[in-house]
Amino acid sequence: MNISAVSQTDKHECDGKLYEPFLCKVESVKDLTASEKLFRFVRTDGKPFGQKPGQFMQVSITGIGEAPISVSSSPTRGDYLEMGVRKTGTLTNAMHNLKSGDIIGMRGSFGTCFDTLAMKGRDLLLISGGCGLAPMRALIQYVEDCREDFGNVTILYGAKSPADILYKDELTQWQNSQKVQCQVTVDNIPEGTCWDANVGLITKLIPPLEIDTAKTTAVIVGPPIMYKFVILELHSKGLIDEDIVVSLERYMKCGVGKCGHCTIDNLYCCIDGPVFTLSQVASLKGAI
Ligand SMILES: Cc1cc2nc3c(=O)[nH]c(=O)nc-3n(C[C@H](O)[C@H](O)[C@H](O)COP(=O)(O)OP(=O)(O)OC[C@H]3O[C@@H](n4cnc5c(N)ncnc54)[C@H](O)[C@@H]3O)c2cc1C
Ligand code: FES
Repeated sequence: MNISAVSQTDKHECDGKLYEPFLCKVESVKDLTASEKLFRFVRTDGKPFGQKPGQFMQVSITGIGEAPISVSSSPTRGDYLEMGVRKTGTLTNAMHNLKSGDIIGMRGSFGTCFDTLAMKGRDLLLISGGCGLAPMRALIQYVEDCREDFGNVTILYGAKSPADILYKDELTQWQNSQKVQCQVTVDNIPEGTCWDANVGLITKLIPPLEIDTAKTTAVIVGPPIMYKFVILELHSKGLIDEDIVVSLERYMKCGVGKCGHCTIDNLYCCIDGPVFTLSQVASLKGAI
């Protein structure tokens, strides 16, 4: 895939509204794990969110704060927006207290997206770990809804333990689907837990795969530690950096390229990313 093919965000599409949140209503809240919830939002003005898989929103609650949260649903599913949120601090704790009907603020959508146009006709290897399945889910939904646009699709997902697995129902659905291949692994199984599938790091799932390197794009989203080792496995399979796409997370404030909190060398993660080809960032200090 050509580097320049990674779509830049329509970051100036919402010029003038960069700092002003629009209002959203919580349509539903669902527990994913003990510390993660899935939220579905609709805009109070009835407009679509215009989000693209890979992008993020700046979510705010008046008097509490604001944080970047990934888009976790594809626009092909309707005019709502879903987000999988882990309880980690001020804003996300407050989000976990939200109920259906509550109103919050959002800015966005911001950042680069997964370039589904450049992925057209290619085999996709979609690798995510932990919370990384939240943004990856938006891409998977898009691929499911435009299935004829893509070649073979393989989904690999790793979680710390069975209790930490996100989107369990959807993973089961993908595992039973004829349209995609899906494998799930857990790092370890606590005593007394029932689990009869893969155990071990996600990197273990890569060597047995048959990959056509000429037509495969791999996408990686997960905790920082995962990238280096997954990339090593993909390189040993013959994949080149141009065909490996990563989504990187950095501490963000403005989300629109003004404050400099999210820099990776000469790049701003919020506007140049969070989605990059590996060839864009591999040589940048501290990127991976
Ligand atoms: C592009 C992007 C997408 C994301 N998508 C998701 C998602 O889909 N779901 C999700 O749950 N999370 C997501 N996150 C992570 C989320 O934005 C952070 O966890 C955010 O800090 C949560 O805000 P908070 O107010 O709840 O937590 P905070 O109160 O900000 O605290 C969270 C943690 O960050 C630490 N922290 C606070 N300030 C700083 C600082 N200046 N530098 C470094 N660390 C600091 C705190 O000590 C604490 O451990 C995403 C982040 C990015 C950049
Ligand atoms: S978050 Fe402010 S420049 Fe990226």
